[in-house]
Amino acid sequence: MSALPKVGVVGGGQMGSGIAEVFLRAGCPVHVVEHDPACALDAEARIRRSLDRAVGRRKIDEPTRDAAVARLTSSADLGDLADRGLVVEAVVEDEAAKTEIFATLDKVVEDPSAILASNTSSIPIMRLAIATDRAEHVLGMHFFNPAPVLDLVEIVPSLLTSTAARDRAESLVTDVLGKQVVRATDRAGFVVNALLVPYLLSAIRMVESGTATAHDVDTGMRVGCAHPMGPLELADLIGLDTVRAIAESLYSEFAEPQYAPPPLLSRMTDARLLGRKTGRGFHDYSGDS
Ligand code: 3HC
Repeated sequence: MSALPKVGVVGGGQMGSGIAEVFLRAGCPVHVVEHDPACALDAEARIRRSLDRAVGRRKIDEPTRDAAVARLTSSADLGDLADRGLVVEAVVEDEAAKTEIFATLDKVVEDPSAILASNTSSIPIMRLAIATDRAEHVLGMHFFNPAPVLDLVEIVPSLLTSTAARDRAESLVTDVLGKQVVRATDRAGFVVNALLVPYLLSAIRMVESGTATAHDVDTGMRVGCAHPMGPLELADLIGLDTVRAIAESLYSEFAEPQYAPPPLLSRMTDARLLGRKTGRGFHDYSGDS
């Protein structure tokens, strides 16, 4: 993929808007599709705010920000992705929702060699690929939160992905985005979440059993092991609904107790205590702007 592709991002939440920002900053035109027009405008506003913050931190200058904003469009219509060379789906971890999006993208994206990628954390790529008639161009392209900061992307070919599509995706990540690639096979959790999520679940079980408070578990790993965040702060950043969904995918794939969502996690997600995005999870963010 030598020229900069026109990029589509489906889903403008935390991950989708971060991914859109990464491609905009690399010079690609990006169209974000949300499920309704108000959400599409919210996604645009989120991306603009993040670009403004990058100007404030002197990561980019104002003309660069303005050029990135000028490359950004949004709507609530997947049909607007007809002319895209790469589409990255980044909606909630819900297999039915993702499958429906891939089936629609298959119909609307005109270039038969366009790459249809998913930012899924744990849903098998094959399930998404077989919803299309172009499985050889479907793969996983998994970013890490915050996407503008963390320089890793897992590339996940399914058994049906062509080598050419995989190689194009990898060179796009390294040459255009300047990020590092880890290639993983199509198993729930890929590399990073298969290691990270059991650790987060262990931390939740530790709080659940009263071994230590969330504050002390986090302090232990931040100060004692020099992690940038403790596991419960990190779970709150990822979103407890997403952590639960990944745990459920891992448990359904491997049936190992280490992946089973602890009851406390399930009760918190039932109560919409989802972490930063709802203002409360293992910690309280109600005072954050
Ligand atoms: N967008 C853009 N930039 C951001 C940002 C965001 N959302 N959040 C933080 N930053 C920038 C800050 O502006 C700052 O930039 P500077 O150093 O140039 O000033 C830099 O990142 C550091 O931020 P802060 O000083 O505000 O705070 P910290 O030093 O505590 O860093 C952090 C915040 C980058 C989030 C850091 O704590 C971190 O890396 N935490 C671990 C995150 C992690 O493990 N993510 C992976 C989650 S797993 C995942 O995403 C997979 C999924 O499938 C679940």
